[in-house]
Amino acid sequence: MRSHWSGRLAFILAASGSAIGLGNIWKFPYITGENGGGAFVIIYLLTILIVGLPIFIAEVYIGQNAQKNAVSAFNVIHGKPSPFRAIGVLGILSAFLILSFYSVVGGWILSFEYKVLTGAFTDATPETISGMLGGLLGDWKSLLFWHTLFMLITAGIVVGGIKGGIERGAKILMPGFFVLLTLLLFITMSLDGFGDAFAFLFQPDFSKLTGKSILEAVGHSFFTLSLGMGAMITYGSFLEKKEQVFKIAIAVCALDTIVAVMAGLVMFSVTFTYGQEPSSGPALMFSTMPMLFSQMTGGTYLLAAFFALVTFAALSSAISLLEVVVAYFSEERNMSHKKATVIFAGIIWAVGILCALSFNVLSGVFDFFDFFDKSTTHVLMPFGGLLTAIFFGWIIPEEKVYGIFGGPTTAARCIRFISRFIAPTAVAVVMIVGLSDWITG
Ligand code: TRP
Repeated sequence: MRSHWSGRLAFILAASGSAIGLGNIWKFPYITGENGGGAFVIIYLLTILIVGLPIFIAEVYIGQNAQKNAVSAFNVIHGKPSPFRAIGVLGILSAFLILSFYSVVGGWILSFEYKVLTGAFTDATPETISGMLGGLLGDWKSLLFWHTLFMLITAGIVVGGIKGGIERGAKILMPGFFVLLTLLLFITMSLDGFGDAFAFLFQPDFSKLTGKSILEAVGHSFFTLSLGMGAMITYGSFLEKKEQVFKIAIAVCALDTIVAVMAGLVMFSVTFTYGQEPSSGPALMFSTMPMLFSQMTGGTYLLAAFFALVTFAALSSAISLLEVVVAYFSEERNMSHKKATVIFAGIIWAVGILCALSFNVLSGVFDFFDFFDKSTTHVLMPFGGLLTAIFFGWIIPEEKVYGIFGGPTTAARCIRFISRFIAPTAVAVVMIVGLSDWITG
């Protein structure tokens, strides 16, 4: 008997746990900062609606309908052997590569949380703080320690299975995450910079928008919803067939978007209050935020809450990456779920070592971290998404798609039209541009 989520809410928590991650808290605020604010937010919301939501629905539907892992799901729906099972194979490869570097970043976060709790930020000068990430990256022993710890926690959750592990984990991590985020938002609301942050995010200035921002928005809508690599197919496959995918999908996409906006408000309120520029890029989380929080009264507590929240988000995403791999091997290779978890967590951990060493021992030799990151975000995930949109738009019969919506409603027709024409075109363009950018450096 295949295990199932205990209900709709469990799925929503687990799926939003996968979707809500570093993409929302770290990447969304900094790319919004780099792309001028409000106008970018509008484009982002539109791309979530016209690219993200339809592909999200497609993935959950495919998993739910087939009740199989990301590879075999295509064989079940399309007839064996379906060429589209390549989506699943590439998905497993992506999950493997993403988790190997995600776990290293997860380790940075754990290490920062540890620093906060042991008082490393109390009375630290901005120079000390801005050197902390660099110091950590140069110290391969620490990097390996924290990477190992992060992977152990991830595997420790997944080993419990769907209900007893992932669902239970999500039921603790996600409410904890929401409470902490709401708390931080309330606190930052009283800061002088809140009004500016609000205006920055919601008053569009279209003159700041470039073609590149639009591409960035499409690419990010993918990343933030965990699309294009089998994660939502896998989670969907543990959803009972009777559950209605459409409403559930809207709930998860809405939660993911609300969290991104809330995280943006928190980050920019603090940034503007201390007269900083919103476009400080990737350093925003590991150096700007600690620097700013440490100037506030009670800053250490806020910073501890901040890194706890990021830890929760990263863990709930990491478990879904591991489950993509585990679900396939435990179902197709006659392995127990436990055994598959231990073996593959071990292999991914070992590959992750290469990512951790890319910053120090291997620096100048080969940057595995960057290579795994770029090859998944720019090539594998968009390609998986493109094939998924084509499968959903062109292979699955019209009546079946309409069935997801309870009939040929306007929403059903819109989604079908989008997945036939708009989503594949948008994703293809992003993929080509991303690939050429990456190659030309
Ligand atoms: N959505 C995650 C985030 O916003 C990142 C991510 C991309 C992901 N693909 C994934 C997470 C697959 C889990 C599974 O950070």
